[in-house]
Amino acid sequence: MTQRLQQRVVLVFGAGSCGPGWSNGKAAAVAYAREGARVVAIDRLLERAQETRDLVQQEGGSCLALAGDVTSAADIDAVVGAAQSAFGTVDVLHYNVGISGFRPLTELSEAAWEQTFAANLKGAFLASRRVLPIMLAQGRGVITTISSTASLAIGPIPFVDYYASKAGLNQFTRSVAIAYAKQGIRANVVAPGLMNTPLLLETPGFLDHYGTVENMVRARGALSPTGAMGDAWDIAHAAVFLASDEARYINGVVLPVDGGLHCRLG
Ligand SMILES: NC(=O)c1ccc[n+]([C@@H]2O[C@H](COP(=O)([O-])OP(=O)(O)OC[C@H]3O[C@@H](n4cnc5c(N)ncnc54)[C@H](O)[C@@H]3O)[C@@H](O)[C@H]2O)c1
Repeated sequence: MTQRLQQRVVLVFGAGSCGPGWSNGKAAAVAYAREGARVVAIDRLLERAQETRDLVQQEGGSCLALAGDVTSAADIDAVVGAAQSAFGTVDVLHYNVGISGFRPLTELSEAAWEQTFAANLKGAFLASRRVLPIMLAQGRGVITTISSTASLAIGPIPFVDYYASKAGLNQFTRSVAIAYAKQGIRANVVAPGLMNTPLLLETPGFLDHYGTVENMVRARGALSPTGAMGDAWDIAHAAVFLASDEARYINGVVLPVDGGLHCRLG
Protein backbone atom coordinates (compact mmCIF):
# COMPACT_ATOMS: atom_id res chain seq x y z
CA MET A 1 0.00 0.00 0.00
CA THR A 2 1.46 3.36 -1.04
CA GLN A 3 -1.33 5.74 0.05
CA ARG A 4 -1.43 7.33 -3.39
CA LEU A 5 -4.96 8.60 -2.71
CA GLN A 6 -4.67 9.55 0.93
CA GLN A 7 -7.81 11.37 2.16
CA ARG A 8 -9.16 11.74 -1.38
CA VAL A 9 -12.94 11.30 -1.56
CA VAL A 10 -13.91 8.77 -4.23
CA LEU A 11 -17.49 8.16 -5.34
CA VAL A 12 -17.99 4.73 -6.91
CA PHE A 13 -21.30 4.46 -8.72
CA GLY A 14 -22.29 0.81 -9.19
CA ALA A 15 -20.07 -0.27 -6.29
CA GLY A 16 -21.84 -3.55 -5.59
CA SER A 17 -21.78 -6.89 -7.29
CA CYS A 18 -24.59 -8.59 -9.19
CA GLY A 19 -23.48 -11.97 -7.81
CA PRO A 20 -21.03 -13.60 -5.41
CA GLY A 21 -17.35 -12.76 -5.95
CA TRP A 22 -15.34 -9.75 -7.05
CA SER A 23 -17.11 -7.43 -9.45
CA ASN A 24 -15.32 -4.52 -11.08
CA GLY A 25 -17.19 -2.08 -8.85
CA LYS A 26 -16.49 -3.90 -5.61
CA ALA A 27 -12.78 -4.37 -6.40
CA ALA A 28 -12.45 -0.70 -7.40
CA ALA A 29 -13.96 0.50 -4.11
CA VAL A 30 -11.61 -1.74 -2.10
CA ALA A 31 -8.58 -0.78 -4.21
CA TYR A 32 -9.23 2.96 -3.78
CA ALA A 33 -9.56 2.49 -0.01
CA ARG A 34 -6.30 0.52 0.11
CA GLU A 35 -4.60 3.65 -1.25
CA GLY A 36 -6.00 5.73 1.59
CA ALA A 37 -9.11 7.13 -0.12
CA ARG A 38 -12.37 7.71 1.67
CA VAL A 39 -14.87 5.83 -0.47
CA VAL A 40 -18.56 6.36 -1.05
CA ALA A 41 -20.06 3.12 -2.37
CA ILE A 42 -23.26 3.82 -4.26
CA ASP A 43 -25.53 1.18 -5.73
CA ARG A 44 -29.11 0.89 -6.89
CA LEU A 45 -29.46 -1.80 -4.22
CA LEU A 46 -28.37 -0.67 -0.75
CA GLU A 47 -27.43 -4.17 0.41
CA ARG A 48 -24.91 -4.44 -2.43
CA ALA A 49 -23.33 -1.11 -1.46
CA GLN A 50 -23.26 -2.25 2.16
CA GLU A 51 -21.51 -5.49 1.25
CA THR A 52 -18.76 -3.46 -0.42
CA ARG A 53 -18.60 -1.07 2.54
CA ASP A 54 -18.17 -4.02 4.91
CA LEU A 55 -15.25 -5.34 2.83
CA VAL A 56 -13.55 -1.94 2.93
CA GLN A 57 -14.12 -1.55 6.65
CA GLN A 58 -12.84 -5.08 7.39
CA GLU A 59 -9.50 -3.92 5.98
CA GLY A 60 -9.54 -0.80 8.13
CA GLY A 61 -10.64 1.51 5.30
CA SER A 62 -13.19 4.31 5.30
CA CYS A 63 -16.43 3.80 3.39
CA LEU A 64 -19.98 5.11 3.34
CA ALA A 65 -22.67 2.98 1.67
CA LEU A 66 -25.55 4.72 -0.06
CA ALA A 67 -28.50 3.67 -2.21
CA GLY A 68 -28.90 5.55 -5.49
CA ASP A 69 -30.07 4.92 -9.01
CA VAL A 70 -27.82 6.64 -11.56
CA THR A 71 -30.72 7.10 -13.96
CA SER A 72 -32.34 9.50 -11.47
CA ALA A 73 -31.01 13.06 -11.17
CA ALA A 74 -32.71 13.33 -7.76
CA ASP A 75 -30.91 10.22 -6.49
CA ILE A 76 -27.56 11.48 -7.76
CA ASP A 77 -28.16 14.85 -6.15
CA ALA A 78 -28.97 13.16 -2.84
CA VAL A 79 -25.95 10.82 -2.77
CA VAL A 80 -23.48 13.53 -3.79
CA GLY A 81 -24.96 15.79 -1.11
CA ALA A 82 -24.62 13.01 1.48
CA ALA A 83 -21.01 12.39 0.41
CA GLN A 84 -20.21 16.08 0.84
CA SER A 85 -21.83 16.13 4.27
CA ALA A 86 -19.83 13.09 5.35
CA PHE A 87 -16.45 13.84 3.78
CA GLY A 88 -16.54 17.51 2.72
CA THR A 89 -15.82 17.21 -0.99
CA VAL A 90 -15.56 14.94 -4.04
CA ASP A 91 -12.17 14.28 -5.63
CA VAL A 92 -12.87 11.29 -7.86
CA LEU A 93 -15.97 10.14 -9.71
CA HIS A 94 -15.73 6.48 -10.73
CA TYR A 95 -18.63 5.57 -13.00
CA ASN A 96 -18.87 1.77 -13.11
CA VAL A 97 -22.55 1.19 -13.90
CA GLY A 98 -23.13 -0.73 -17.10
CA ILE A 99 -25.87 -3.12 -18.13
CA SER A 100 -26.46 -5.35 -21.11
CA GLY A 101 -28.62 -8.17 -22.34
CA PHE A 102 -28.22 -10.80 -25.00
CA ARG A 103 -30.60 -9.26 -27.54
CA PRO A 104 -30.25 -9.11 -31.32
CA LEU A 105 -31.42 -5.86 -32.92
CA THR A 106 -34.72 -7.24 -34.23
CA GLU A 107 -35.66 -8.46 -30.73
CA LEU A 108 -34.60 -5.34 -28.88
CA SER A 109 -37.51 -3.32 -27.50
CA GLU A 110 -37.51 0.46 -27.42
CA ALA A 111 -37.80 0.28 -23.62
CA ALA A 112 -34.73 -1.99 -23.35
CA TRP A 113 -32.71 0.35 -25.61
CA GLU A 114 -33.67 3.33 -23.44
CA GLN A 115 -32.90 1.43 -20.23
CA THR A 116 -29.40 0.55 -21.47
CA PHE A 117 -28.66 4.11 -22.55
CA ALA A 118 -29.99 5.51 -19.26
CA ALA A 119 -27.72 3.28 -17.16
CA ASN A 120 -24.64 3.26 -19.40
CA LEU A 121 -24.60 6.85 -20.66
CA LYS A 122 -27.19 9.21 -19.17
CA GLY A 123 -26.09 8.32 -15.64
CA ALA A 124 -22.52 9.32 -16.43
CA PHE A 125 -23.78 12.68 -17.67
CA LEU A 126 -25.96 13.23 -14.58
CA ALA A 127 -23.20 12.24 -12.16
CA SER A 128 -20.55 14.34 -13.94
CA ARG A 129 -22.84 17.36 -14.10
CA ARG A 130 -23.45 17.09 -10.36
CA VAL A 131 -19.81 16.68 -9.24
CA LEU A 132 -18.07 19.01 -11.69
CA PRO A 133 -18.97 22.25 -9.85
CA ILE A 134 -17.46 20.76 -6.67
CA MET A 135 -14.28 19.77 -8.52
CA LEU A 136 -14.05 23.10 -10.32
CA ALA A 137 -14.36 24.99 -7.05
CA GLN A 138 -11.36 23.14 -5.62
CA GLY A 139 -9.42 23.21 -8.91
CA ARG A 140 -8.92 19.47 -8.94
CA GLY A 141 -10.88 16.35 -9.88
CA VAL A 142 -10.78 13.05 -11.71
CA ILE A 143 -13.59 11.37 -13.62
CA THR A 144 -13.09 7.76 -14.65
CA THR A 145 -15.73 5.91 -16.60
CA ILE A 146 -15.82 2.16 -17.10
CA SER A 147 -16.62 1.36 -20.69
CA SER A 148 -15.72 -1.84 -22.57
CA THR A 149 -13.68 -3.04 -25.52
CA ALA A 150 -17.19 -3.44 -26.96
CA SER A 151 -17.01 0.33 -27.44
CA LEU A 152 -14.07 -0.14 -29.82
CA ALA A 153 -14.93 -3.23 -31.86
CA ILE A 154 -17.78 -5.66 -32.35
CA GLY A 155 -17.54 -9.09 -30.72
CA PRO A 156 -19.54 -12.32 -31.04
CA ILE A 157 -22.38 -11.18 -28.74
CA PRO A 158 -25.24 -9.34 -30.49
CA PHE A 159 -25.92 -6.60 -27.91
CA VAL A 160 -26.23 -3.55 -30.17
CA ASP A 161 -27.48 -1.26 -27.40
CA TYR A 162 -24.38 -2.08 -25.35
CA TYR A 163 -21.93 -1.41 -28.23
CA ALA A 164 -23.60 1.90 -29.04
CA SER A 165 -24.01 3.18 -25.47
CA LYS A 166 -20.42 2.32 -24.50
CA ALA A 167 -19.07 4.07 -27.61
CA GLY A 168 -21.11 7.10 -26.55
CA LEU A 169 -19.66 6.88 -23.05
CA ASN A 170 -16.12 7.07 -24.47
CA GLN A 171 -16.84 10.19 -26.43
CA PHE A 172 -18.77 11.77 -23.56
CA THR A 173 -15.77 11.23 -21.27
CA ARG A 174 -13.32 12.60 -23.83
CA SER A 175 -15.47 15.69 -24.25
CA VAL A 176 -15.36 16.30 -20.48
CA ALA A 177 -11.57 15.82 -20.58
CA ILE A 178 -11.16 18.57 -23.15
CA ALA A 179 -13.75 20.97 -21.73
CA TYR A 180 -12.21 21.13 -18.24
CA ALA A 181 -8.51 20.32 -18.75
CA LYS A 182 -7.45 23.89 -17.99
CA GLN A 183 -9.32 23.82 -14.69
CA GLY A 184 -7.50 20.84 -13.23
CA ILE A 185 -10.02 18.16 -14.14
CA ARG A 186 -8.97 14.92 -15.84
CA ALA A 187 -11.40 12.44 -17.38
CA ASN A 188 -10.44 9.04 -18.73
CA VAL A 189 -12.07 5.80 -19.82
CA VAL A 190 -11.08 2.29 -18.75
CA ALA A 191 -12.22 -0.26 -21.32
CA PRO A 192 -12.30 -3.79 -19.85
CA GLY A 193 -11.96 -6.68 -22.26
CA LEU A 194 -12.84 -10.27 -21.42
CA MET A 195 -13.04 -10.24 -17.63
CA ASN A 196 -14.05 -13.10 -15.39
CA THR A 197 -16.54 -11.44 -13.06
CA PRO A 198 -19.95 -12.39 -11.59
CA LEU A 199 -21.57 -10.36 -14.38
CA LEU A 200 -20.97 -13.21 -16.84
CA LEU A 201 -23.25 -15.51 -14.88
CA GLU A 202 -25.90 -12.88 -14.22
CA THR A 203 -26.33 -11.25 -17.66
CA PRO A 204 -29.53 -12.69 -19.17
CA GLY A 205 -28.80 -15.12 -22.03
CA PHE A 206 -25.03 -14.97 -21.65
CA LEU A 207 -24.43 -18.37 -20.06
CA ASP A 208 -27.03 -19.99 -22.36
CA HIS A 209 -24.88 -18.91 -25.29
CA TYR A 210 -21.95 -21.03 -24.02
CA GLY A 211 -23.92 -23.90 -22.41
CA THR A 212 -21.79 -24.36 -19.29
CA VAL A 213 -19.55 -22.21 -17.12
CA GLU A 214 -16.56 -24.35 -18.13
CA ASN A 215 -17.29 -23.80 -21.83
CA MET A 216 -17.68 -20.08 -21.25
CA VAL A 217 -14.37 -19.77 -19.39
CA ARG A 218 -12.60 -21.82 -22.08
CA ALA A 219 -14.17 -19.97 -25.03
CA ARG A 220 -13.59 -16.49 -23.61
CA GLY A 221 -10.07 -17.39 -22.55
CA ALA A 222 -9.31 -18.61 -26.06
CA LEU A 223 -10.45 -15.26 -27.50
CA SER A 224 -7.86 -13.39 -25.44
CA PRO A 225 -4.32 -12.96 -26.82
CA THR A 226 -3.08 -14.08 -23.39
CA GLY A 227 -5.19 -17.25 -23.46
CA ALA A 228 -7.11 -16.27 -20.33
CA MET A 229 -9.62 -13.72 -19.11
CA GLY A 230 -8.61 -10.90 -16.80
CA ASP A 231 -10.34 -10.16 -13.51
CA ALA A 232 -11.86 -7.28 -11.57
CA TRP A 233 -8.52 -6.32 -9.97
CA ASP A 234 -7.01 -5.57 -13.37
CA ILE A 235 -9.69 -2.92 -13.85
CA ALA A 236 -9.45 -1.63 -10.29
CA HIS A 237 -5.68 -1.16 -10.43
CA ALA A 238 -5.89 0.74 -13.72
CA ALA A 239 -8.53 3.04 -12.22
CA VAL A 240 -6.46 3.68 -9.09
CA PHE A 241 -3.49 4.67 -11.24
CA LEU A 242 -5.63 7.02 -13.36
CA ALA A 243 -6.99 8.65 -10.20
CA SER A 244 -3.54 9.12 -8.69
CA ASP A 245 -1.19 12.07 -9.21
CA GLU A 246 1.13 9.70 -11.08
CA ALA A 247 -1.35 10.06 -13.95
CA ARG A 248 -1.51 13.84 -13.69
CA TYR A 249 -0.76 14.35 -17.41
CA ILE A 250 -3.04 11.56 -18.64
CA ASN A 251 -6.32 12.98 -19.86
CA GLY A 252 -8.92 11.85 -22.39
CA VAL A 253 -7.52 8.37 -22.93
CA VAL A 254 -9.53 5.24 -23.59
CA LEU A 255 -7.39 2.62 -21.85
CA PRO A 256 -8.13 -0.96 -22.88
CA VAL A 257 -7.41 -3.41 -20.07
CA ASP A 258 -7.77 -6.50 -22.19
CA GLY A 259 -4.50 -8.40 -22.59
CA GLY A 260 -4.09 -6.85 -26.06
CA LEU A 261 -7.45 -7.95 -27.45
CA HIS A 262 -8.08 -4.57 -29.09
CA CYS A 263 -4.99 -4.99 -31.30
CA ARG A 264 -6.31 -8.07 -33.02
CA LEU A 265 -8.22 -8.03 -36.31
CA GLY A 266 -10.01 -11.33 -35.87
N1 LIG B 1 -17.18 -8.19 -16.50
C1 LIG B 1 -16.81 -8.00 -17.74
O1 LIG B 1 -16.42 -8.93 -18.40
C2 LIG B 1 -16.87 -6.62 -18.32
C3 LIG B 1 -16.34 -6.44 -19.58
C4 LIG B 1 -16.39 -5.17 -20.15
C5 LIG B 1 -16.95 -4.13 -19.45
N2 LIG B 1 -17.48 -4.33 -18.23
C6 LIG B 1 -18.09 -3.17 -17.54
O2 LIG B 1 -17.80 -3.18 -16.15
C7 LIG B 1 -18.88 -2.55 -15.45
C8 LIG B 1 -19.56 -3.43 -14.43
O3 LIG B 1 -18.75 -4.38 -13.92
P1 LIG B 1 -19.12 -5.11 -12.56
O4 LIG B 1 -18.31 -6.35 -12.58
O5 LIG B 1 -18.95 -4.17 -11.41
O6 LIG B 1 -20.71 -5.43 -12.71
P2 LIG B 1 -21.83 -5.78 -11.65
O7 LIG B 1 -23.10 -5.83 -12.42
O8 LIG B 1 -21.45 -6.97 -10.84
O9 LIG B 1 -21.87 -4.53 -10.65
C9 LIG B 1 -22.42 -3.32 -11.05
C10 LIG B 1 -23.33 -2.78 -9.98
O10 LIG B 1 -24.04 -1.70 -10.55
C11 LIG B 1 -25.33 -1.67 -9.96
N3 LIG B 1 -26.27 -0.95 -10.82
C12 LIG B 1 -26.89 -1.41 -11.92
N4 LIG B 1 -27.70 -0.46 -12.42
C13 LIG B 1 -27.58 0.62 -11.59
C14 LIG B 1 -28.18 1.89 -11.55
N5 LIG B 1 -29.10 2.26 -12.46
N6 LIG B 1 -27.81 2.75 -10.57
C15 LIG B 1 -26.90 2.39 -9.63
N7 LIG B 1 -26.32 1.18 -9.60
C16 LIG B 1 -26.66 0.30 -10.57
C17 LIG B 1 -25.70 -3.13 -9.77
O11 LIG B 1 -26.68 -3.29 -8.74
C18 LIG B 1 -24.36 -3.78 -9.45
O12 LIG B 1 -24.19 -3.98 -8.05
C19 LIG B 1 -19.92 -2.19 -16.48
O13 LIG B 1 -19.79 -0.86 -16.86
C20 LIG B 1 -19.60 -3.15 -17.59
O14 LIG B 1 -20.10 -2.72 -18.82
C21 LIG B 1 -17.46 -5.55 -17.65
